[in-house]
Amino acid sequence: MAASRKPLISGNWKMHMNHFEAIQIVQTLSYQLDENDYGACDVSIHPPFTDLRSVQTVLESDRIPVLLGAQHCHFEEKGAFTGEVSPGMLEKLNVKYVIVGHSERREVFGEEDEMINAKVKAVLKHSMTPILCVGETIEEREADKAQEKIQSQIQNGLKGIGKERISSMVIAYEPIWAIGTGMTATPADAQEMCAFARGCVKDVAGNAAGDTIRIQYGGSVKPVNAAELLTQEDIDGALVGGASLDAENFSRIVKYRLH
Ligand code: 13P
Repeated sequence: MAASRKPLISGNWKMHMNHFEAIQIVQTLSYQLDENDYGACDVSIHPPFTDLRSVQTVLESDRIPVLLGAQHCHFEEKGAFTGEVSPGMLEKLNVKYVIVGHSERREVFGEEDEMINAKVKAVLKHSMTPILCVGETIEEREADKAQEKIQSQIQNGLKGIGKERISSMVIAYEPIWAIGTGMTATPADAQEMCAFARGCVKDVAGNAAGDTIRIQYGGSVKPVNAAELLTQEDIDGALVGGASLDAENFSRIVKYRLH
């Protein structure tokens, strides 16, 4: 991680934790993290929609400096979109980060680059920060097509967005074969791909935006491998799935610099 970019450690809870469990884990996490941790890293948690209001209330009433995140949203302001949640609704809950284009949304729910680009724009319009997810399948990696995939996801995801706004965003490089499998990319591989992703941002938005944007690694990040991944030059944080469901494990990842 370059000194000028503050790392962002994000917990993506996926479809886990009801709102009672959510309150409990946030309180446990708050006992384990201290000012030094929040000074060294930004920390966000991304609970399911049904938990957001409860988690917001705990974070604000107990003054816990963990930032609230969402896992996705629609791109329209409102309308007849049964089951969807708008960026304006999230903004009202003081949500700061919204994951956009997670591989599970792309693969299971058929989200494509054009829709993801519309969501990135909608999130930015509501003064929240998109975490744009990109990553290749194992087949693409084996066919030497990983970089091609990342490049097209970044180019399409950032289409029509100004350089300033791009520089404030977060990209999460999550190789699909490493998600939930326990197969982490090696630190060298993760570094190479995050550096490549940064180069793609530079091609789209210039060197300044590429140097400023934060690029997270995601895919089986655990307390044991967090330090070796997060100390790589172009890795500015982690998007953590399974290990973020346990306050102890997640706080150990946030404290990676102490390992
Ligand atoms: P795991 O950490 O469980 O592999 O999940 C990664 C992920 O998909 C985070 O968005």
